[in-house]
Amino acid sequence: MSVFDVDAISLASLRQRTSAKWRVYEPDVIPAWVAEMDFPLAEPITAALHEAVDRSDVGYRWIGELPDSLAGFARATWGWDLNRDHVVVLPDVLTAIAQAILALTASGEGVVVNTPVYPPFFTTVRDICGRELVDVPLLRDPDGHYELDLEGLTSAFARPEVTAYLLCSPHNPTGITPSAETLTAIAELALIHGVAVIADEIHAPLAHPGTVHTPFLTVSSDDLIAVSLMSASKAWNIAGAKCAQVVAGSQQVMDIMSERVPLEVTYATGHFGVLASIAAYREGGPWLEQVRSQIAANARVVHQHVSTLSPSVQCVPPTSSYLAWMDLSASGIEGDPSEFILDRARVAVSAGPTFGAGGEGFIRLNFGTSPSILAEILDRMGRALMESGVEA
Ligand SMILES: Cc1ncc(COP(=O)(O)O)c(C=O)c1O
Repeated sequence: MSVFDVDAISLASLRQRTSAKWRVYEPDVIPAWVAEMDFPLAEPITAALHEAVDRSDVGYRWIGELPDSLAGFARATWGWDLNRDHVVVLPDVLTAIAQAILALTASGEGVVVNTPVYPPFFTTVRDICGRELVDVPLLRDPDGHYELDLEGLTSAFARPEVTAYLLCSPHNPTGITPSAETLTAIAELALIHGVAVIADEIHAPLAHPGTVHTPFLTVSSDDLIAVSLMSASKAWNIAGAKCAQVVAGSQQVMDIMSERVPLEVTYATGHFGVLASIAAYREGGPWLEQVRSQIAANARVVHQHVSTLSPSVQCVPPTSSYLAWMDLSASGIEGDPSEFILDRARVAVSAGPTFGAGGEGFIRLNFGTSPSILAEILDRMGRALMESGVEA
């Protein structure tokens, strides 16, 4: 049975939303860029927020039962017994990345990333934290499948200036979900070379049915300096409520984080974010199940549409989350394809080059929407490609 009616979602009602997704572009543009979904909020979250408003409960954050509810969700979902005393609550995952890098590395040291990757990784590592970016690009086979480059990581970890690895698992924008074997190998390599692992697992609850996400801390030893960054914000679509969790991999890491993360930063967490996250982890399971099935179905629609649309557009279906990474480099579009799609199709997608090396000629399409809006997006894109004759 459905928890919400996906067919009741309309562009007219979505345009009443005032978040960035719906306000940045002109009203005739369908926004499929920033990672927000179009589904209605899960009922337990709506109830928790309404109750807080009714109590005039809009003060500074109180963590309360959040570590417990995260631990309960992690155990039920992944069989991961995380230590609830090892949880640090912060406003969002980008703040958590910055605080982890600042706490676990020193000025000028190298942090490994895997391009193409979520663009704010670059600014966070380089501009906010003052660390060097060390890129180990993902490997891509001729069919467009991506994977982590273990040999490349081995060489990078051996470099003396490299002291941390910012792992994105599941990976944005490619949607790959690294296997337990790959993550185990990474944990072993990192331990050998004394590299701290900062695992951004924000998309983990959105693994498609049949895909197994392995939490990084379940394959790493206590001796490794490692943190997992979790949040209900992507999976339950509450990014604006502002709450994320750092799970320290050991008491030693927890001690470092407790000592180095300023109290003021933890207080920037939204109280609504804490309340919404507790409701999500505790009671948001049925809603999440529907969303996971819906986005997996949408991923199949995107893939089918793209393969019938044109041989010059390539897109391997993601195994997690609601982002499609599309290669339009052979389509004949001149310049950045996201501009072409905005101008001709009136669909706003994310520009591939912003994801770093390997992003040229690509777009990232957000398909976290209803089947009918997705059909309209794909139809608009297909027509624009056909009319300009670039798809042949
Ligand atoms: C991989 C990844 N990390 C971090 C973020 C940002 O999360 P937050 O809004 O909690 O900072 C996103 C948002 O889409 C993301 O995809």
